[in-house]
Amino acid sequence: MTNRHAEKIDRNEFLKSLGLKGAALFAVYCTGATLSSCQNENSVTPNPTGELLKLDLTTTAASALKNVGGYIRQNNVVLAKVSATEYVAVTQTCSHEGRQEIVYMNSQFYCTAHGAAFSKTGAGLNSNGRSGIKVFQVSISGNILTVTNN
Ligand code: FES
Repeated sequence: MTNRHAEKIDRNEFLKSLGLKGAALFAVYCTGATLSSCQNENSVTPNPTGELLKLDLTTTAASALKNVGGYIRQNNVVLAKVSATEYVAVTQTCSHEGRQEIVYMNSQFYCTAHGAAFSKTGAGLNSNGRSGIKVFQVSISGNILTVTNN
């Protein structure tokens, strides 16, 4: 066991001894002087700019988008059909620790790694999602849907 690991255990035990647990314990770690438990947020790679995805909505590749609530993940984009006439595209890379585990479920974007949740406008809905998520522009011309990052 390294000294640093031993130090974290000691701090954790100390905080628990103060009666802190759950969300309160997490908040202490994330707002502490060293930010040692949340440092990976700063290493999330930004998305490329320009056209990210072009999709013919009549093809089988887009079949998951036929029903409201359906979504596809392609080219680091999560594209969801959020209403009968509206699509929303966000990055597949989570703002929490950069894992590419964003899905669309229960009318929100959700990271299966640690549970970060985001609204359809990209706003964070819980502590792990507090940094929000990048929303891309979606345009439709005929049957062709295009996702761009300007
Ligand atoms: S990487 Fe932690 S919630 Fe997404």
